Amino acid sequence: MSDTDFITAFAPASIGNVGVGFDMLGLAIAGTGDWVSARRSDERGVRIIEVQEISGEVHPFLSSNTDENTASIAAISLWDAEGNDSGIELIVKKGIPLQSGMGSSAASAVAAVVAVNGLLDNPLEKAALLIHALAGEKFASGGLHADNVAPSLFGGMVLCPQVLLPDTVQLAVPEGISSVLVHPELQVNTAESRKGLASGYSMHQWLTQQGFLAGFIAACEQGDVELLGRCLRDEVIEPQRAASVPCFGEVQKAAMNAEALGCSLSGSGPSIFALCRDANAANVAMAMEQGCRKLGYECESWISPLNAPGAEIETRK
Ligand code: HSE
Repeated sequence: MSDTDFITAFAPASIGNVGVGFDMLGLAIAGTGDWVSARRSDERGVRIIEVQEISGEVHPFLSSNTDENTASIAAISLWDAEGNDSGIELIVKKGIPLQSGMGSSAASAVAAVVAVNGLLDNPLEKAALLIHALAGEKFASGGLHADNVAPSLFGGMVLCPQVLLPDTVQLAVPEGISSVLVHPELQVNTAESRKGLASGYSMHQWLTQQGFLAGFIAACEQGDVELLGRCLRDEVIEPQRAASVPCFGEVQKAAMNAEALGCSLSGSGPSIFALCRDANAANVAMAMEQGCRKLGYECESWISPLNAPGAEIETRK
């Protein structure tokens, strides 16, 4: 490989919060994600050559200003920390819709650090890349939370409470369970959505949600599907955000009628996810799509195993 060759990394979309663990729990999704290609350049610093749509056309909405893109912010964090005095150039390709609640900004940041890591003389372990990807994500969401970055980087389901960062815990996932993610054609700005959340909560809410999160994690570890279904609930954040996704109630009802184990917003929405038995996933996806369309929202859906892979280098050329 020569110094002017590109390294291209792919990072998957993700479900933030997984309903039950606000800012603390994230799940990788197979089948959609972002790509970042990186190469060395003689000019110092980090430059974005282009931000592209999935088609390869120039992205109509995203800035290629390095101060305003999660990929370049994350890349700068890593490149500077490793003391490099040459420069790098990036091409960002977006496969994930913007402001979709599918971890779009996180995936770009993660793909960037994985690609840039491949350019280092001594590449770091994946775990050491997390803080650099978080630097990019923080710019987009206005908060420090790893529930999109961590699953996009590591794959699977990851516990990532702020108090533990940069440590994260990879959770076991029960066999025979899939996630279904439906993206209605709406947008929700995560930073704005976060500003609208209450800053104080009652003892009852704290105890309830803590119980659901603990029960959910135990259910994952023990493969207890029935307990998982009882615990996959958000009584604190979901009620505050549901109104920003007009089809949410209808889609949630449709998913539960189709025997999903649980259904909630993905991150700040508008995407909505459900967990269900593998054999039931196609039905649940169809019911959720019908729920969106019934209220006039076009949509797209993905069915994914719970152990979807994390970010990887795809090509070097
Ligand atoms: N935990 C974040 C939130 C995820 O819910 O605001 C955003 O995708």
